[in-house]
Amino acid sequence: MTALLGNEQLTWYIARASGITAWFLSAAAVLWGLFLSTGVLRGRPRRPWLLDLHRFIGGLTVVFTLVHMAALIGDNFVHFDLVDILIPMASEWKPSAVAWGVVAFWLLLAVEITSLLRRAVVPERVWRAVHASSFLLFGFATVHLLQAGTDADNPLLFWPIATVSFLVLFLSWWRILVGRSNPNGTSPTPRRDTPGLTRRSELSSVG
Ligand code: HEM
Repeated sequence: MTALLGNEQLTWYIARASGITAWFLSAAAVLWGLFLSTGVLRGRPRRPWLLDLHRFIGGLTVVFTLVHMAALIGDNFVHFDLVDILIPMASEWKPSAVAWGVVAFWLLLAVEITSLLRRAVVPERVWRAVHASSFLLFGFATVHLLQAGTDADNPLLFWPIATVSFLVLFLSWWRILVGRSNPNGTSPTPRRDTPGLTRRSELSSVG
């Protein structure tokens, strides 16, 4: 207990706890984004509520990622400086495992900043392209957690990670299958080339 409260140990615990929290938050942000883009929840809860929560979770992901990075710099167990955590492969401690996290952080920042400046400054096409990199950032963060995380092989953490990752993969597959939902409605707009999803009106217009 004394060791846990010692300053050296405390920053290391904060770094680990905030890193794990940031990963779960990024997964939640991606899941909520997919709820929005697929319309899989069919309007319950309503889209504005989902969007507000999605934005809140996205912001919280950035906050916890910054806490994670600050705690790593403040920690003396492994020595990190600003360059180590901002430049991929600069870290002497597990350089490639850390690099996945560094790249995920930059992508997260790009997604968040373009979203905050959406409409006012960032055109819709650019916002959408940058936002699509959320899938990549989630993948990179997952590799980072599994390779660099001290606790990743603890079953109490591993199984929740595996379950949440499966959910993200499943909904991403669903997103590819049905395309994007109509932003004004609630149900997914079927892609013309998706077998079995062609609307009757489209069939009659062909004939
Ligand atoms: C201020 C912050 C954010 C805003 C305003 C925002 C806004 C949105 C909106 C409006 C959608 C629905 C797009 C559609 O219906 O096609 C969406 C989808 C999505 N968002 Fe965000 N978002 C934010 C932050 C984030 C963050 C931080 C992440 C990831 C960590 C993220 C990941 C996603 C994903 C994966 C989708 C689904 C994209 C798709 O299927 O094409 N978003 N977001």
